[in-house]
Amino acid sequence: MQWRSGNELREMFLAYFEEKGSKRFKSFPLIPEDPSIMFTIAGMVPFKPYFLGIRTPEGPRAVTSQKCLRTNDIDNVGRTARHHTFFEMLGNFSFGDYFKKEAIPFAWEFLTERVGLEPDRMYASIYLDDDEAFDIWHNDVGLSKDRIFRMGEEDNYWSIGPVGPCGPCSELYYDQGEAFSCGKPTCTVGCDCDRYLEVWNLVFMQFNRFEDGRIEPLPKQNIDTGMGLERLAAVVQRAPSDFETDLFKPLIDATCSLAGVRYGAGPKEDRAVKVIADHIRALAFMIADGILPANDGRGYVLRRLLRRAAMLGRLIGLDRPFLVQLMPTLLELMAGHYSELKEHRSTIEQVLQVEESRFNRTLEQGSNLLDTEVARLEERGESVLPGEVAFELYDTFGFPCELTEEICEERGCSLDHEGFRREMEAQRDRARQAGKHATSRVEKTVYTELHKELGDTPFDGYAATEGDAAVQALIADGERVSSASEGQEVEVVLDRTPFYAEGGGQIGDEGVLTGEASRLAVRNTVAPAERLVVHQAVVEAGTIAVGDAVHGAVDAERRQAVRRHHTATHILHEALIQVLGPHVRQSGSLVAPDMLRFDFTHFAPLRREEVLEVERIANREILANTPLAVERTTLDRAKERGAKAIFEEKYGEEVRLVSIHGFSAELCGGTHVDATGDIGSLRIIHEEGIGSGIRRIIAKAGMPALEYAQETSSRLHEIAGLLGGEHHESPEKIVALQEELKELRKELADVRLRRRLEHVDGLIDGAQEVAGIRVVTASFEGASPDVLRQVGDTVKNRLSPVLVVLAAVGDGKVQFIAMADESAREMGLHAGNILREVAKAAGGGGGGKPAMAQAGGKRPEKTDEALALVPELVSHSRSG
Ligand code: SER
Repeated sequence: MQWRSGNELREMFLAYFEEKGSKRFKSFPLIPEDPSIMFTIAGMVPFKPYFLGIRTPEGPRAVTSQKCLRTNDIDNVGRTARHHTFFEMLGNFSFGDYFKKEAIPFAWEFLTERVGLEPDRMYASIYLDDDEAFDIWHNDVGLSKDRIFRMGEEDNYWSIGPVGPCGPCSELYYDQGEAFSCGKPTCTVGCDCDRYLEVWNLVFMQFNRFEDGRIEPLPKQNIDTGMGLERLAAVVQRAPSDFETDLFKPLIDATCSLAGVRYGAGPKEDRAVKVIADHIRALAFMIADGILPANDGRGYVLRRLLRRAAMLGRLIGLDRPFLVQLMPTLLELMAGHYSELKEHRSTIEQVLQVEESRFNRTLEQGSNLLDTEVARLEERGESVLPGEVAFELYDTFGFPCELTEEICEERGCSLDHEGFRREMEAQRDRARQAGKHATSRVEKTVYTELHKELGDTPFDGYAATEGDAAVQALIADGERVSSASEGQEVEVVLDRTPFYAEGGGQIGDEGVLTGEASRLAVRNTVAPAERLVVHQAVVEAGTIAVGDAVHGAVDAERRQAVRRHHTATHILHEALIQVLGPHVRQSGSLVAPDMLRFDFTHFAPLRREEVLEVERIANREILANTPLAVERTTLDRAKERGAKAIFEEKYGEEVRLVSIHGFSAELCGGTHVDATGDIGSLRIIHEEGIGSGIRRIIAKAGMPALEYAQETSSRLHEIAGLLGGEHHESPEKIVALQEELKELRKELADVRLRRRLEHVDGLIDGAQEVAGIRVVTASFEGASPDVLRQVGDTVKNRLSPVLVVLAAVGDGKVQFIAMADESAREMGLHAGNILREVAKAAGGGGGGKPAMAQAGGKRPEKTDEALALVPELVSHSRSG
């Protein structure tokens, strides 16, 4: 078999299925459109609506090399030859077109004739009773019967999850030879070892499983296949593991050279570099697809992967942030096919840099925690670090168990593995519970069923805010009803509508529905299943029934205000790119009638000058009064025109391109003004950071912008009024007031000092002499310990040998200080010992050194009594 590179194999696959009439698609993003899963886990995920028959495909055959991410086996990455987080899945798909009879021979021909795998090393598995597949393998392909294995549901039945499309499958195995075998006599197809390697999974997608376990046939018979590119490359390149293929090796070499270790030097080093090579791919692609570090959701997965990679780097001596240094190698390997790596290179690099440096600081805290825990163990004479501590380090600080163990070993203790495992297990359970919840929440049955029946609701609201329609369905309390009457809350589905359903950041319309015998106030409009529009309304008068003719009128003034804010969002987006740079990317938005919120990637707070410049550019564009052009086109054409890319692009569909000529072009389904001048003006009213690398801007357009400006200037006038003068003079006046305040504060401090000195004079005059020592005692109402110390110091400087004991009374307690000067100490006096007795008499404790001591007491009413003990204590210690 001829050696071929990973890049070559990918291209061969795509070209082969193109030859077979399939449309080649660029990989879809790692963020799936399907809300029930976090990441794209297989090539078929973006095509799910086509399998379910919810959407009609442009063509019936497709082929992709899909970016996939799976984290369920993350602990195995680097330990086995084949586990990865990020991988590329080669897949060919048929939507009701070809089926088993073609899919099996296609796979066979591609692997044996194009790639050159030896037919006599190939095996197939089929689902238990799938005689049809058996016949095709045996009669059409010519595989002998003993090379076809029947297997059960676990191996040969594929489903995307507990609900959704599924079907029996057939897998192709390749015998890598004796050298790869586990050596057991039972070793054959299906064995866990690497000899009979499963290379390709052909799924005969025929069924749909529902939440209640019901399985129904899909509208059509489909094909979904999946072959890991990394695994295919390993077979073709005769590599002992995926990591030794040309898809990974350069990353491994780069990591080794940064760390100064040799691949193959030991299991610890090898595992670390494999994990790093795996994770850097995942990180770069996740960031390129718009994921940013966060404490939940996808962002949390990103953060965890980054921390794992950074930690394992530490384990092999990479003490400083290093991930970003792997980017040139990764780009060289993969940017040829995945241009997003190039396009978003600066964002990827900045996120890696910022997040890894941040993590370095967290690591220090983690190390400190570990040190404290180990010290605590030593104190108690124990030597096993509890599992909970190791888990906390793992969970909060990202310390892999091995690292904790290693540090423990250095300090002569060990780790409670069992306890650690228990904590991990408990966390997995929690995650599983959360996962279950997530799937059941997205199965919004009533709406999905309705959508199946009625399809997308035609939207007339781009051109009009009013229109006639017929009521197709009514829903109350989650159930379909035939009518609803006065006072009832009801959801209304129409055959067409001018109401915009919440989406793309733009909030839903409000307005009125009027029937012959009814009037409904629409409080919100949403699209709970695809583009099925649901008007959330309350019946204000009469009764509405399915079949009624109604007139819908959107609150036009509110809609106009929303349109202004929506176009303003596009303008703001472009202005931010112009001022801050091309790394600025939208990560979320909210478009409302009174404000807009825009979240975007950027790594530092905006400087005042930057905010002003963004406002200037935006308002210049508004004044230019450029007409907006809206057109429907294809995704590729929109991208050619420089349209801002969004993450959750749908396949095969027309896109709506909103452009402001010469300024911006963006894919968007929202409602916009006719020309930029309609916006009036735009003001940024707030800017803040909302997570690592994401900033948020709140801005206002149209009348709300004017109202904001008016409010601000009213406040300035108010301030000017208080200061007495014109508002342009206010800053000067405030500076003058601040100066004056500073002067007054200084004067006050002087007065206080003078008063204190007067006290000191009084104290010195009143000093008693006890056994040759000058003894000064006094108590002050409400003084701070600082003041006590100052008074004490002054007395000490003016008398000798001297003992001063002072008390400050306040807040239901008393605080004491005692000071003895050097001569007094030479005469045997110990401030700490004396103070201990004094404090005891005032219901407290404390003590200190011979020269200086502090103590507190809980019985302030005893202060005088306590101070009165001092002379006696002095004479006692002198004689003692
Ligand atoms: N969906 C199947 C898998 O993930 C085949 O593409 O294995």
